[in-house]
Amino acid sequence: MAAPQCVLITGGAGYIGSHTVLQLLLGGYKTVVIDNFDNSSQVAINRVQELAGDHAVNLTFHKMDIRNKPALEKLFASTKFDAVMHFAGLKAVGESVQKPLMYYDNNVVGTLALLEVMDAHGCKKIVFSSSATVYGWPKEVPCTEEFPLSAANPYGRTKLMIEDIFRDIYASDSGWKIIMLRYFNPVGAHPSGHIGEDPLGTPNNLMPFVQQVAVGRLPALKVFGTNYSTKDGTGVRDYIHVADLANGHLAALRKLSDPQIGCEVYNLGTGKGTSVLEMVAAFEKMSGKKIPLIIAGRRPGDAEIVYASTEKAELELNWKAEYGIEEMCRDQWNWVNKNPYGYQTK
Ligand code: NAD
Ligand code: UFG
Repeated sequence: MAAPQCVLITGGAGYIGSHTVLQLLLGGYKTVVIDNFDNSSQVAINRVQELAGDHAVNLTFHKMDIRNKPALEKLFASTKFDAVMHFAGLKAVGESVQKPLMYYDNNVVGTLALLEVMDAHGCKKIVFSSSATVYGWPKEVPCTEEFPLSAANPYGRTKLMIEDIFRDIYASDSGWKIIMLRYFNPVGAHPSGHIGEDPLGTPNNLMPFVQQVAVGRLPALKVFGTNYSTKDGTGVRDYIHVADLANGHLAALRKLSDPQIGCEVYNLGTGKGTSVLEMVAAFEKMSGKKIPLIIAGRRPGDAEIVYASTEKAELELNWKAEYGIEEMCRDQWNWVNKNPYGYQTK
């Protein structure tokens, strides 16, 4: 039997990373996780270990910043990685507008450090967390991977820059195998309710906000805009269960072994658009909690309607999202009901 593949996961203590690490462990991979805990905690790693059972022996964790090149060098010198999954990054759009240098430094400079060390050690397989944000304000939907790309804020620009860096690297050296995954709107949590999303401070995104209203940490949800030309006037997005997203990463990892693969990009979404009010209604149904609403004006910079074309991922990665919005809301509620303060005790 072949030895299990060893995967380095940057940002593996975070929301999407922790769910993916668990799936990798259960899938028989060896995982080495690095994270600086900027937006996560050791508790997430402990919970992943608990959920992984006997497979937990295949998880190693190092508290490390991806910009710390000497530390990365040491890690790559001591371990042979078959591939890297690169989740580490800052992701708050509003904060990126206030602190662009911090975003360029963490996301872009951090990625460069990682790529330089990978290159020096001959590890040239990577799956990268890109985002639907690179479609800017799409003129039509569903968004296909060929759509024109643009950035609406510094966060989005870091994703676009990193995508361009990957395309340039591959053009210079076809030995690289690169898959960039453009996530749509990840929500939900592991069905056990032991790992989930735990944003620091007041949440910016819809479902983390809704979950805090549900447990009484916030009084009401502001609905940003009710006059869009959508089914009920509220913004429409493509919500995807984090478990489906995690499985999409395993599909991408398998694809990296395809001799034909070069530098590719895939949307990870469900292909279905859901409005804010539909999402709130599904959450209320699955939680039995009333979410008080405040009708507010549009949030500056928001797109009206965004959802994915899923054809390419289905065809080439042999992956398709399985969960619907009720399952997403059920699992989100289960997580927050068990962990009203996330990974903190209060
Ligand atoms: P997250 O904040 O929960 O996870 C990111 C992790 O990276 C955190 O644990 C954080 O501590 C770590 N990190 C940040 N900077 C680091 C650094 N310099 N060195 C080491 N670790 C560092 O976010 P997430 O939702 O899990 O997102 C993961 C990736 O997916 C990010 O790159 C994000 O931009 C991208 N993404 C997220 C979404 C979303 O809506 N959640 C959508 C599209 C793309
Ligand atoms: N919304 C509200 N109230 C809130 C928060 C959000 O009504 O308190 C609405 C928004 O106006 C939007 C929808 O809920 O119509 C979804 O908003 P999110 O902030 O959850 O998600 P976005 O699609 O607007 O943006 C996020 C990231 C982007 C990324 C995108 C897809 O901020 O950078 O997900 O990954 F590109």
